[in-house]
Amino acid sequence: MIDSPNFTNKGRQYKTVFFETFGCQMNKLDAELSLGLLQEEGYRIVDKPDAADVILFNTCSVRQHAEDKVYSHLGALKMLKKKHPEVIVGVLGCMAQKDGESIFKRMPHVDLVCGTRMFSRLPELLLNIKNHGSHVLAVEEDQIVNVKRAVTYRPNFYQAFVTVMRGCDNFCSYCIVPYVRGREISRTIADVKEEVQALVSNGCKEVTLLGQNINSYGKGLTGGVTLGDLLSELNDIDGLERIRFVTSHPADMSRDLIRTMSRLSKVCEHLHMPAQSGSDSILKRMRRGYTVDYYRDLISYAREWIPHISIASDFIVGFPGETDGDFQETVRLMEDIRFHNCFIFKYSPRTGTKAAELEDDLPDGVKRARNMKLLELQKSISLEENRKMIGKKVQVLVEGASKSDPNKLSGRTRQNHIVVFRGSRDLAGKLADVMVDEVTDLTLYGKQPSCS
Ligand code: 5AD
Ligand code: SF4
Repeated sequence: MIDSPNFTNKGRQYKTVFFETFGCQMNKLDAELSLGLLQEEGYRIVDKPDAADVILFNTCSVRQHAEDKVYSHLGALKMLKKKHPEVIVGVLGCMAQKDGESIFKRMPHVDLVCGTRMFSRLPELLLNIKNHGSHVLAVEEDQIVNVKRAVTYRPNFYQAFVTVMRGCDNFCSYCIVPYVRGREISRTIADVKEEVQALVSNGCKEVTLLGQNINSYGKGLTGGVTLGDLLSELNDIDGLERIRFVTSHPADMSRDLIRTMSRLSKVCEHLHMPAQSGSDSILKRMRRGYTVDYYRDLISYAREWIPHISIASDFIVGFPGETDGDFQETVRLMEDIRFHNCFIFKYSPRTGTKAAELEDDLPDGVKRARNMKLLELQKSISLEENRKMIGKKVQVLVEGASKSDPNKLSGRTRQNHIVVFRGSRDLAGKLADVMVDEVTDLTLYGKQPSCS
């Protein structure tokens, strides 16, 4: 057992930690797990850096913009660190893994750089700094991340994210993830099931399984298990209402999995399956391993087997050499598929990736214009699709009070629509029917069928 550090700076009685997370859902879950560990060590979470004994940033490297934000936050801490040198500043996660030692050179007031596979050792690393001084680097790559989850630590009582695999072997040409998160490693079905059962016993109703490339879940495990096998096992858990999973890669998405989804009652009718581009020549240079026709056929197959399935996607605009014609093909794909929602990103070259060897030849203005065009197109599609829901009854899992209007409740449909409606507080955590009477592109509004 590690002794607990006992910070007494500024006369505070407790050890306090400020934690900010950037990037994807997996990062948010890693943050939850890290905070769970620190809480077990007696740390108290505070919401301002200047009230903290330890300031930690869990970082993202997917685009330059995310890294710039962290460096600017770190820069802003220089003065605080000068006044209170005993405060520990740490950089965790993808940027820590990628930039390593060079973070100390650029930001000498940073005490800790802790990579993507080391955060389970966070309490021990913090203690090291306290006992032996600053500049602790922990970015080993051969560590298997294994954090015992505190089931009580999750942002919404009725929902939880569960990591089922980490890393990615796909090496899409633009993507830094395989370099900072390492090769794919899956957890066993027994391990995941135990965690989900513990969450359900603690009141959780919905789980979202996380993996950078979740369709290849099971690769490397003995017995040839697949994501379908995992979903089938979890579907049997009493008290669990809904199962979701992200993120799907079209090339690794099997038709068998689509048929499995269609027969499992708890698996929601929703897929986040990024297309990235509607142009075959761009997809080839992105090394995505499929063509646009293959993607279209896959969506048709999913819609045939799961009639009301909603599909979300990611797109990158301004990939090196993307012509107007390539971009128009992306527009066409979006118009034809009519996605539930899309995340649109401007291409950002990442040193070390294959695509970084190509010239980043599109001016930022062109990237921005293409980004805006796709955002607007998706907004109008979402609004049109949501309008079709007016007058219909939808079933939601109620999450609790709405963030935008605390007098109302908020929940989600199985297809992942956000629904805001009037209803009694004791519906939280339950399934409720809602009649939709108003919509925006992002939200459905309504009331319970019995309400006048
Ligand atoms: N530039 C822009 N967007 C990127 N993504 C991944 N790498 C890059 C990059 N270098 C996007 C992809 C992915 C999402 C998580 O981030 O669309 O699906
Ligand atoms: Fe990155 Fe491609 Fe792996 Fe997704 S599938 S994490 S985009 S390398």
